[in-house]
Amino acid sequence: MGSDTITLLSSREIEKMRQAGSLAAALLDHLEPMIKPGVSTLELDNEAERWTQAHGATSAPLGYHGFPKSICTSVNEVVCHGIPNGKQILKDGDIMNIDVTPILDGYHGDTSRTFFVGTPSARAKKLVEVTEECLMKGIAAVKPGGRIGDIGAAIQEYAEANGFSVVRDFVGHGINRVFHTAPQIPHYGKQGKGKRLRSGMVFTIEPMINEGTWEAQMLDDGWTAITKDGKLSAQFEHTLAVTGDGVEILTRSD
Ligand code: MF3
Ligand code: CO
Ligand code: CO
Repeated sequence: MGSDTITLLSSREIEKMRQAGSLAAALLDHLEPMIKPGVSTLELDNEAERWTQAHGATSAPLGYHGFPKSICTSVNEVVCHGIPNGKQILKDGDIMNIDVTPILDGYHGDTSRTFFVGTPSARAKKLVEVTEECLMKGIAAVKPGGRIGDIGAAIQEYAEANGFSVVRDFVGHGINRVFHTAPQIPHYGKQGKGKRLRSGMVFTIEPMINEGTWEAQMLDDGWTAITKDGKLSAQFEHTLAVTGDGVEILTRSD
C-alpha cells in the first residue's frame, strides 16, 4: 500500500488500539507522581521502560529511526522529541511534556501530556491550559464526513486567539500496527479543506503550541526540536478513532 493510503480499521482492530491506548494513558498516570524537582529525565525513562515491559508491552520510540530512549521528555523550550538524560534534572517551575508509545500485541498507543514541575509561572500555566484546550477543540472537530482541515482550523483559531502560535514542522499521524502512517494531521489550516474523515480512520492529534514564534529548530543530536526564540512550548496528544457518528479517544485515562 502506498504511504498516502489511509487504512480503515475494523472494530476488532480498534479494540486492539483501545487496549494499547489505555495502557499508554495508564503509563502517563503512573509516571505523574514522579515528576518533582530533583528527578532526572533519565529516571523517568527507566521507570517507563520497566513498567512497559512489566505490562507485556514494548516501547515504540526505543530504536525508532535510531531514537535512543523509551520515551520523549521535552522540557520548557523543547517543542518535541527531547531525549531523556541523567544530567537533566527537573527544577521548580519547569514544564515538561512526556510522550509515550507502548506497543501492545502489535498495536500502538500514542499519547502525551505536559506536566508542571512544582509551581508554574502564570504564563506557563496559561500556555499549558490553552494547549490542552487546543487538543480538545481539535478532537471535537472530528466526525465522519468532515475534513482533516477542520481539525487544524479549530486548533489554530483557539491558539492564536489566546496570543500563542502553532508549530508547523510536526503533525499528527495515522497510527495502527505502524507508528507513523497516513494521514498527516496538521494543527493549523482551513475548515472544509483536506481529505474527508471516515469511520474507521485512526490517527493522533498532537498540537505543539508556542508562547512566541511558531518556528522550531533542530539541535545537533538530530532529534531535539526547540523554539527558535527560546520561549516555552507545550504539547498534548491523544490517539483517536473516527466512529459512525463522531470520535472516540483511545488514550483516555480512567
Ligand atoms: N510519540 C511521538 C509522536 O507523537 C514520536 C516519537 S518518535 C521518537 O509521534 F523516535 F522520537 F521517539
Ligand atoms: Co504521535
Ligand atoms: Co507521541
